[in-house]
Amino acid sequence: MPEHTRRDFLYVATGAAGAVGAAAALWPFIDQMRPDASTRALASIQVDVSGVEPGMSLTVKWRGQPVFIRNRTEAEIEAARQVPLSELKDPVARNANLNADAPATDLSRSAGEGRENWLVMIGICTHLGCVPLGQQGDFGGWFCPCHGSHYDTAGRIRKGPAPENMAIPTFEFISDTVIQIG
Ligand code: FES
Repeated sequence: MPEHTRRDFLYVATGAAGAVGAAAALWPFIDQMRPDASTRALASIQVDVSGVEPGMSLTVKWRGQPVFIRNRTEAEIEAARQVPLSELKDPVARNANLNADAPATDLSRSAGEGRENWLVMIGICTHLGCVPLGQQGDFGGWFCPCHGSHYDTAGRIRKGPAPENMAIPTFEFISDTVIQIG
C-alpha cells in the first residue's frame, strides 16, 4: 500500500513537470509574435532626472549603451561657451536631434534653449569605444583612459586620438523632470 501511493505520487509529479515544460516552451513563440512590443521597449526609455542636482550626473543604459545625463554647473556651461569653434577638432554637433551639419556650439550640444544645463550623450569614446570617466582630463569634461582622449564640458573632443565629439542621442523632455531617450 505505501509503495502504491509512492508510485502514484511520482506519476503525478512527472505529469506536472511536463506541463510546466510545455508552458515554458510556448513563451518564445508568443514573444516572437509580438515584435512591435519588444521593439518599442528597446527603442526608448524614460528617465526621471528630478534628483540630479547641478554638478551631478546619472548614467543609464539605452540600447545596450551607457548614456551620460549631466546637470552641468554654470562654470561648466560658461567654459564650453568660451571655446571658439575654430579650436574644435570636430566642429559639428553630432546631435541626433539637429541637422547633421549643425555646428558644435555649446547650445547645440546641450538640451537646448532654457535647458542648457542638461547634457545627454552616449558615453562611448569615439576612438575605440571605451567608456570615458566624468569630470576628468585637461578640459574638465570627460577623459578616456584607454588612449588618452580629452573631452570638454560639452562632450566635445579636444585632445587625443578620438576623432569625433561624443554622440547626442535622440531625446526630449516629456515633462520638466522626465527625459525620454530614443
Ligand atoms: S578608446 Fe578612448 S582614447 Fe581610445
